[in-house]
Amino acid sequence: MDGGPRQARAANDVLEIRMSRRPTVPKWSPDSWRAKPIVQVPEYPDAKALAAVEAQLATFPPLVFAGEARNLKRALAKVASGEAFLLQGGDCAESFAEHGANNIRDFFRLFLQMAVVLTYAAASPVVKVGRVAGQFAKPRTSPTESRAGVELPAYRGDIINGTDFTRAARTPDPRRQLEAYRQSAATLNLLRAFAGGGYANLSNAHQWMLSFVKDSPQFMRYQQLANHITEALGFMRACGVDPGLHTELRTTDFFTSHEALLLGYEQAFTRVDSTTGDWYCTSGHMLWVGDRTRQADHAHVEFCRGIKNPLGLKTGPTQKPDALLKLIDILDPDNEPGRLTLICRMGADKAADLLPLLVRAVKREGRNVVWSCDPMHGNTVTSVTGYKTRPFDQILAEVRAFFQVHAAEGTYAGGVHLEMTGQNVTECIGGARAISEEDLNDRYHTVCDPRLNAEQSLDLAFLLADLIRTQRLGKEKPTPVVAAL
Ligand code: PEP
Ligand code: CO
Repeated sequence: MDGGPRQARAANDVLEIRMSRRPTVPKWSPDSWRAKPIVQVPEYPDAKALAAVEAQLATFPPLVFAGEARNLKRALAKVASGEAFLLQGGDCAESFAEHGANNIRDFFRLFLQMAVVLTYAAASPVVKVGRVAGQFAKPRTSPTESRAGVELPAYRGDIINGTDFTRAARTPDPRRQLEAYRQSAATLNLLRAFAGGGYANLSNAHQWMLSFVKDSPQFMRYQQLANHITEALGFMRACGVDPGLHTELRTTDFFTSHEALLLGYEQAFTRVDSTTGDWYCTSGHMLWVGDRTRQADHAHVEFCRGIKNPLGLKTGPTQKPDALLKLIDILDPDNEPGRLTLICRMGADKAADLLPLLVRAVKREGRNVVWSCDPMHGNTVTSVTGYKTRPFDQILAEVRAFFQVHAAEGTYAGGVHLEMTGQNVTECIGGARAISEEDLNDRYHTVCDPRLNAEQSLDLAFLLADLIRTQRLGKEKPTPVVAAL
């Protein structure tokens, strides 16, 4: 006997119990964050002027298209399953003053060089995501800064206020949001042209070499690699395959990302995608929640949970496994591959102890995340000369620890998140040129955190290529024939 009203009722009861156990998801709207507690908010003196700017921004064309954000999510899903590697990087904070074609070109060129090192030397597809075209707002440890007995609001990024230590510069000005939009649009326009218009053609790999690294070991290694690529392309041609006809070799996919910090700005760019009816934040392809704003019941998490873009979540040393799982439930309730990238920034000395606890918890719950390593933010120190800096050795040490932990836990070390520039700055100490604490004064240009310069970045790319290759070989170790007999 199957069926019958009694059994049907019993089945319904089970269903009801299950349904009632599912936590009801509170309604979300682009402004639902406004009803939540919030930290890291600038104090705008004129609320009306701020509202007027936000209303104006809401009428501006989107910077990115929802379909592109979905493409990035698909690419990140490949990272989550161990088939690709995520390279994410750029300035700590973009600056209005440094905005210009040469800077954008140098940054993009360095990115291509690093990506080609990873693609060729590690034989891994690389998902390229810049911290660029919108990375203007900064969280601060203290809301104010004091100098010689004078206390002023802290600098919060060019989209909010200025770096000069004057009351006028430090007072948040909403019109800066219009300028941030304009610069983001111009940067993105040039990046799109570089990515699709021929500059990224693999046959240009030799031309991407930066002039100032000519006498460095990285330059020699890079040149050898570029020679191999030229040979491979020549071989293809000889076989009758015209590399020029293959879009994959002529163009590249390049995506943008920034911290979703200034929520009024982000809300203004949150639009319904006409093809799916879903909400996307169109100020960048990927947005991340910072380590200081990741409280589960606060505004930043509330805003991010409702947009369909791929998301990042900064995960620092104070993050506990249970709290992390709760955040994953909120930000990625459907366990969608490519939706969530955990950007771990523990510090070189803590990573080996803290990371395994998080990795085990996430693995145990079967969550499909991308694991990425930010080896910058946990390794910031102040030099004897008073500069905020980062020792290159510590950066490398955290990257190595990250790969070791994933190898030990049987999970995939999927990406890195770097602060870097194509400029020849002296902001992080160490590296092949052994930049010393005294050298920091030479070319210290960052308006926020210290970045890797082009040489240091390329050096790191070669190390990464080795680590990725080892990770891949470990995974692909063939089953011994004897065992199979
Ligand atoms: C940043 O990425 O610049 C930053 C502030 O990082 P975190 O939130 O990890 O401190
Ligand atoms: Co930073």
